[in-house]
Amino acid sequence: MNNFLSLDDVSDPMAFAREAIELKKNPLADMHLGRGKMLGMVFFNSSLRTRMSVQKAAFNLGIQTMVLNVGGDLWTLETQDGAVMNGKAAEHIKEAVPVMANYCDILAVRCFPGLENRDIDSEEKILTAFATKSGKPVVNMESATLHPLQSLADLITILEHQPKPRPKVVLSWAPHIKPLPHCVSNSFSQWMNKADVEFVITHPKGLELGTKYTKGAVIEHDQRKAFEGADFIYAKNWSSYNDYGKFMDAPEWIIDAEKMAWTNQARFMHCLPVRRNVEVADDVLDGPHSIVVKQAANREFATQRVLKELLKELK
Ligand code: CP
Repeated sequence: MNNFLSLDDVSDPMAFAREAIELKKNPLADMHLGRGKMLGMVFFNSSLRTRMSVQKAAFNLGIQTMVLNVGGDLWTLETQDGAVMNGKAAEHIKEAVPVMANYCDILAVRCFPGLENRDIDSEEKILTAFATKSGKPVVNMESATLHPLQSLADLITILEHQPKPRPKVVLSWAPHIKPLPHCVSNSFSQWMNKADVEFVITHPKGLELGTKYTKGAVIEHDQRKAFEGADFIYAKNWSSYNDYGKFMDAPEWIIDAEKMAWTNQARFMHCLPVRRNVEVADDVLDGPHSIVVKQAANREFATQRVLKELLKELK
């Protein structure tokens, strides 16, 4: 594995997730592997879980970290080719990435979409610049279209809690107060389509995700039908994909205890952060079937499995 940019970088996602679960038994067993190595973490956007779990995973492997916040402790970066740099950005990504690569053995980047132009977001300009101009392994910490570290943690969590060999997993759209990216849902769909699960996506009409990501999943517009027999409910908001970035309001899609009662005592999942009583009711998040905190904890071991693999490339 040269990079961890998407599911495509993992040959056997189920085996990879099981290996991550094995790491939990003795998280510090491989501390020698990363001795003398430096991970540069570059954030164009805010984060709680990713920021902390990636640093913790690096610590477990003996890797040192440098954390940079673009526009904060790092110059605002220009990303457009041919830009006349007479605005806010003081440095171009063309110089910044190879300079950062001088000091780091692995680079990780978070770069959200603009949600204004689907073609531009699909190009993944920033992630691609890191992957092509650094000459170092690059980890996607959530990009314009995908969030594979989250999806690996999600798969780990499902494997740990599944009540039967081929559980029914339902990705349900949930309401929000503003338009959100598709990264988590795209990535989750890709990983579930490769996992040993029955995968169903439910959302209001008009909120179809890109078929590039969902191909293979059952799409059910009736939320109740989708929830029936479900072993896992995964809630996530996303804006329109076809009318790209458009906000859609459907408060009746909130996930509450009444809807969870339609399921097979499903475990409740969400990548977090979550808007309580907008996306999901308190009674679900605070109830006995919520595994959102365990899911977040698994971010550490998902990343540790990825970094362990990338360290092999540095020898
Ligand atoms: N789920 C997730 O990536 O959380 P953060 O945005 O807080 O990193």
